[in-house]
Amino acid sequence: MKILTTIAEVQAEPRENRRVVVPTMGALHKAHGELIRVAREHAGRDGKVAVSIFVNPLQFEAGSDYERYPRRDEADDEFCRNAGVDLLFRPSVAEMYADDRSVFVEESSLSKTLEGKSRPGHFRGVCTVVAKLFNVLGPDAAVFGEKDFQQLAIVRRMVRDLNFEVEIISVPTVREDDGLACSSRNQYLSDDERRQATVLHKALRNAESADKKSAGDIVALARNVINEAPLARIDYVEVVDVETLQPVETVAANSLLALAVFFGKTRLIDNIRLG
Ligand code: PAF
Repeated sequence: MKILTTIAEVQAEPRENRRVVVPTMGALHKAHGELIRVAREHAGRDGKVAVSIFVNPLQFEAGSDYERYPRRDEADDEFCRNAGVDLLFRPSVAEMYADDRSVFVEESSLSKTLEGKSRPGHFRGVCTVVAKLFNVLGPDAAVFGEKDFQQLAIVRRMVRDLNFEVEIISVPTVREDDGLACSSRNQYLSDDERRQATVLHKALRNAESADKKSAGDIVALARNVINEAPLARIDYVEVVDVETLQPVETVAANSLLALAVFFGKTRLIDNIRLG
């Protein structure tokens, strides 16, 4: 596996094979393992899998967890080697962003709801870095997880609207045995918070199996389950249309239940398709 830290090194790499990229912020865990496995499958026998690891300051709003976000270079190298990654790109912040940068990529519709409401500027940071990674790494395809459903929708929209020649491949959410969606942020949870965080998946499953068509009823049901956990503080629970990400009143085949909940300082997100 090659580990490259500069854009010039990546651009000097031979490019005759199909390249599938997995953009990450590191602290790799089993959900990343699944993204890499799917990338390998899509790369084919002669294709190359590239993983980027970059904790992108632009997507952390002021006062959030940029400083404490886990950084684990050695463990991540080992993880990628064992997963059969061909190229690991780990640039510094200075390599990615000029001090006087003045161009950003901003999606202006899908970014207005859910995470976009709670985390202003987040998706501008995500779009900017993903566009840069696409330009630097020149992938034929890129793999994203469905846990970050809104991110996935926005990246697809960016690819469509800016004509990137990159196929976007999505991978279903990977969960721990008790249902909690895998996330690098799970490790912030205290033992009590970690135990109580299982209410999130329980809320999603109860909502999924409920015989209710009113989005209001579904949201109330999910909120009641989450509130069984005394340490949970709900940021939002919403039923939205999967295409527009706008709230809906009636649950249909293309509805998504999305939630964000704090346990202490740790904010977890999750979602499930309804209908
Ligand atoms: O999902 C993530 O880990 C990040 O948002 C991404 C896509 C790597 C961009 O920094």
